[in-house]
Amino acid sequence: MTKTKKIIGLSCGRKNGNSEILLKEALMGAEELGVESEIIRAMELRVKPCTGCEACSIAMSRGKEARCAIKDDDVPWILEKTVVEDCALIVSGPLYHLRANSCFEAIHERMLPTMFRHPEVLKKTRVGAIISVGGGEPEWTPLGLTSMNIFVQHTRVLVDQMQVNYVGRPGAVLMEEKYLERARELGRRVARAMMMPIEEVKFVGDETDVSCPVCHCNVLKVPEKLPYVFCPVCWVKGVITLDGDKMKVRWDEESAKYPRFSERGVSTHLELVKNLQMKFYTEDQEKVKERIKKYVSYGKIIKP
Ligand SMILES: Cc1cc2nc3c(=O)[nH]c(=O)nc-3n(C[C@H](O)[C@H](O)[C@H](O)COP(=O)(O)O)c2cc1C
Repeated sequence: MTKTKKIIGLSCGRKNGNSEILLKEALMGAEELGVESEIIRAMELRVKPCTGCEACSIAMSRGKEARCAIKDDDVPWILEKTVVEDCALIVSGPLYHLRANSCFEAIHERMLPTMFRHPEVLKKTRVGAIISVGGGEPEWTPLGLTSMNIFVQHTRVLVDQMQVNYVGRPGAVLMEEKYLERARELGRRVARAMMMPIEEVKFVGDETDVSCPVCHCNVLKVPEKLPYVFCPVCWVKGVITLDGDKMKVRWDEESAKYPRFSERGVSTHLELVKNLQMKFYTEDQEKVKERIKKYVSYGKIIKP
């Protein structure tokens, strides 16, 4: 049984904005079932982007403790709370330019050292849900749930998710009773899932004929040719089939068992990263130092 009775809500939008209101509505729904909550308002905290220094992955490859080299912001704390702490997670945030905003993505991209230090989080013994908020029509909100799933899928079994459209001005969602009720139900669903053994937790959100069986998004990648498709988040493969005049995706059960963010999927990838790091530092580094000279001295770098 999962013993967790707390939900952490990660809010990545404006203070008292639409995504925060929907998150609070969801947490109120969970509270009806006796679940308590804490809210992280990311925009009020110090959130710096990953600089790509590779300190964390180099440490991981050498069997040392991975730590982020950025020491003067709140992201490591946010990640301790959202990735490591024994709680359910609801991520709520706005879309900026078709996908989750950079405040969310900056936190998300910094998760590697935390994950390297706590590989047990990949066992996904906790549950999560997503609220993605857009001011535009559905054509302008296609990637909100997929981008937030990339974070949540690392550590949580997804219980529910909702995409909100046409909600732009701060507080505009308060005029949309259907979204408020949907968010409250999302919170109740998370709370109910928290009371269940994790193996019995099922996704209870909305589905379409082409929804991925793991992240339940309906964005398809066609790497080579139709009818073969992949979920770009989970890398579960499928084949488009015709049932009368209705198109569906027949998803491959084996790849659905071991999606990208399963323990096996991530471990396989990390092994590759380790091997590439090893090869670079033992075989390639000196050659690269020589060959890069031409590029270091080339180009007119401009600044404001
Ligand atoms: C820079 C920027 C880009 C945006 N891009 C989109 C977009 O691509 N699609 C969309 O539906 N809404 C877009 N919006 C609208 C926000 O998603 C919307 O205002 C949302 O309610 C903000 O959430 P908040 O109130 O929680 O901060 C954008 C807003 C900003 C500031």
